[in-house]
Amino acid sequence: MKTFTILKPDTVKAGNAGAIISRLEKEGFRIRAMKMLHLTETQAQGFYYVHKERPFFPSLVKFMTEGPVVLMVLEADNAIDKLRKVMGATDPGKADAGTIRKQFGTNIERNAIHGSDGPETAAFEIGYFFNQLEIV
Ligand code: RTP
Ligand code: MG
Repeated sequence: MKTFTILKPDTVKAGNAGAIISRLEKEGFRIRAMKMLHLTETQAQGFYYVHKERPFFPSLVKFMTEGPVVLMVLEADNAIDKLRKVMGATDPGKADAGTIRKQFGTNIERNAIHGSDGPETAAFEIGYFFNQLEIV
């Protein structure tokens, strides 16, 4: 099973991308696709369209476009739930000890990493950034 992750601009800016990729590999995820992009406003809005009515949406789009991100397709048994568990709660202050967001996140917005929250979302998000030829 596959899931999709973004190492957010705070992670890349802080030089934590390598540490998080290493952690994901240690957790048993296989990287099936990877690329770096500096998202445009339109790309970020389209990616997070489910949140377009939320009060935090403009700020989220601004954050996600402030610098480059790393996009990956990850594979593992139960990949979607497994990644959400390793990431921790949205707010790093409430995330469990040992989670990626606890270790690398700053606040509820600048929380280091994105992970798909269900099978339909994962399919949409993988297809949003990768075509079949780019997934090994
Ligand atoms: P993600 O989609 O990035 O994996 O995060 P998530 O499921 O844990 O949280 P979600 O509710 O989907 O929110 C998406 C992202 O929006 C930012 N956010 N800011 N200021 C706020 O109250 C707030 N709430 C959410 C975070 O960057 C969050 O990851
Ligand atoms: Mg989400």
